[in-house]
Amino acid sequence: MKNDGHNKKTEQLDSLSTSNENEQLTTNQGLKINNNQDSLKSGDRGPTLLEDFILREKITHFDHERIPERIVHARGSGAHGVFKLTKSLEKYTKAGFLRELGKETPVFVRFSTVAGSRGSTDLARDVRGFAIKFYTEEGNYDLVGNNMPVFFIQDAIKFPDLVHAVKPEPDNEIPQAASAHDTFWDFISLMPESMHMIMWLMSDRAIPRSFRMMEGFGVHSFKFINDEGDAHFVKFHLKPKLGIHSVAWDEAQKISGVDPDFHRRDLWEAIENGAFPEWDLGVQLVPEADEHKFDFDLLDPTKIIPEEEVPVELIGTLTLNKNPDNFFAETEQIAFHPGHLVPGIDFSNDPLLQGRLFSYTDTQLSRLGSPNFHEIPINRSLNTVHNNQRDGHMRQQIVKGKVSYEPNSIGGGCPFQAMMKEGGFASHQERISGSKVRERSKSFVDHYSQAKLFYNSQSTPEKMHLQNALIFELSKVTIPEIRERMVGQLAFIDMFLAWRVAEKLGLEVKKLDWPNQSLPADSNLI
Ligand code: HEM
Repeated sequence: MKNDGHNKKTEQLDSLSTSNENEQLTTNQGLKINNNQDSLKSGDRGPTLLEDFILREKITHFDHERIPERIVHARGSGAHGVFKLTKSLEKYTKAGFLRELGKETPVFVRFSTVAGSRGSTDLARDVRGFAIKFYTEEGNYDLVGNNMPVFFIQDAIKFPDLVHAVKPEPDNEIPQAASAHDTFWDFISLMPESMHMIMWLMSDRAIPRSFRMMEGFGVHSFKFINDEGDAHFVKFHLKPKLGIHSVAWDEAQKISGVDPDFHRRDLWEAIENGAFPEWDLGVQLVPEADEHKFDFDLLDPTKIIPEEEVPVELIGTLTLNKNPDNFFAETEQIAFHPGHLVPGIDFSNDPLLQGRLFSYTDTQLSRLGSPNFHEIPINRSLNTVHNNQRDGHMRQQIVKGKVSYEPNSIGGGCPFQAMMKEGGFASHQERISGSKVRERSKSFVDHYSQAKLFYNSQSTPEKMHLQNALIFELSKVTIPEIRERMVGQLAFIDMFLAWRVAEKLGLEVKKLDWPNQSLPADSNLI
């Protein structure tokens, strides 16, 4: 496979696509149309006749062109590419695409903002989605990540609350694509677990210069399973070859006004011009036996594994080298799912990830409208699908034979189950014990250490950007108690940061309940 945008997936898509060039206009039934300018009327000046099936078909289809946008990550841009393995992970995983050195796997990647709707600006201060579908020989594997390594919440049961808080307020649908409003900060100020993510969100990472210049992270700990059945926890990283670059807030404001498609255009043009965006894919690996050797829980998605403790090993290169032919058919209809796995990769018990495993298929059933959305060309695996599922809205596959159940004694075209030795997916065997409880693990309780770690890792100008972001965003909050609560949270991260934000918001600093913490030595620099 050459690195020129052609691969098995793009060939599959080509074989399923059509071109209208030099073709005569037809109805959906293939009937040639000889007048696309006038409807059928009774006399020159009408009325129009109901029997005009050509008009009716055209308008009916138009009336139904829109599908629901994604409930989150609605605004997105995608491209085709290839992942090339440069280091074999044979020791750690059975996954074929991560074992054979030099192996190339076709991919489709979709970048997105989270909060805004489909037509919102690319330059919003927001998390960016970084979702990759690997079309492997063993089936589709999806890495559905973000450009920040942690998340706002620890448990999936809080996700609808988070999204309801960040989305436009239900009474007036304001604001469109920003976190600058009462409901967002109200929720955040009551959720100490979100503080680490808030530091990332208020940092320059939230306004990337380009999709080509941002990192990607799988966020959760996943598991690699090897031939012997041994497990390693794995965190995925994508590091852009162009480096990490952001724009300043006032630049972002101007760009949003002049060109709200800035990131989409940048990605499209880079690929059209042959400046193919590239990332190194890296992994942090932790043997299952070392699960409890950290001062945080590997299952807690508000924590990173510091790279000083577990270095990132680079294992391959992701290159985007072909723009989609049709935005709707590819970028809009693609359906990612963190539970689309291949043998040798498994999920962990991270309670946020566990909820995601339910959510994606569920939402795609309503977004794409049918249980057969795996048959949409961009979602098809390279392997032909063989199972006993049948029927349903919009079924495309015509499966021959009499039998669609198993076991059966008739044969009749029924697929058979793979034996373990022939491959196939097997869940990692893990010993689970404990009472059935609805509570948070005590190992998830430290919400501030890594928030501090991140804030302290910022250079002085970066700290200023972060402070100014908080001041700007919180200045939009109309309820004083929410601002005060937020300043109280910031004081657990950095005293000077809290003091500066409070001062600029005009809060009476003395009244606030300061934790016992002294100002940092470099505070006069800021
Ligand atoms: C999209 C749910 C957390 C990354 C979505 C969608 C839903 C969803 C319903 C829309 C999917 C579609 O319409 O096709 C959830 C839930 C979460 C959660 C319930 C927590 C319980 C996360 C986290 C990440 C993430 C932690 C990052 C690691 C993404 C991305 C997309 C997405 C990148 C866009 C995929 C695309 O480009 O089509 N999520 N999500 N989500 N989510 Fe999540």
